[in-house]
Amino acid sequence: MSRPLKVVLRREEIDRRIAELAAAISRDYDGCEPVLIGVLKGCFVFMSDLVRKLDIPVEVEFIRLSSYGPARTTSGRVKLTHGIGTPLRGRHVLVVEDIVDTGLTIRFVLDYLRRKRPASIKACTLFDKPSRRLVEIRPDYVGFTIPDKFVVGYGLDCDEKWRHLPDLCELEE
Ligand code: XMP
Ligand code: MG
Repeated sequence: MSRPLKVVLRREEIDRRIAELAAAISRDYDGCEPVLIGVLKGCFVFMSDLVRKLDIPVEVEFIRLSSYGPARTTSGRVKLTHGIGTPLRGRHVLVVEDIVDTGLTIRFVLDYLRRKRPASIKACTLFDKPSRRLVEIRPDYVGFTIPDKFVVGYGLDCDEKWRHLPDLCELEE
């Protein structure tokens, strides 16, 4: 049986772009020792590739949310299922997301983290679908702007499947 998948971005392309993002982040946060906060589960592949390309010291934390219902439909309601215990007051925080779609998730995360009084807060996403935005939000670092197609692989899932694929693929109907 063939998979209903079409490669959108190959692993080599993703790898090259992450090296560029890592160079920009290393430059911008030189001397700051930022806390990178990954949004689980989707971020886990990107986060692990990104941190290994940085040439500055960082701390790593994770936050876990649920916003999507089963499969591809967003519930619109974001729920925090695992927050941050570590104090962030006065720290430089960089949120690491796999994909920003409607923007509801990243807005929720930024609002939650701002209440912890960091010195600064920015967002980095590997993939961005600006055409789907419901709230005005522009991540500070964007790997790839992609069209409004449901994508899987490189950490992204559909009903918990396909996260392990090294390439970013479009899930065809
Ligand atoms: P919002 O709409 O809140 O969505 O910006 C962010 C979260 O939704 C998931 N998402 C996707 N997951 N393929 C996926 O596998 C997609 O094309 C896609 N679009 C959104 C993702 O978990 C992200 O954190
Ligand atoms: Mg997901």
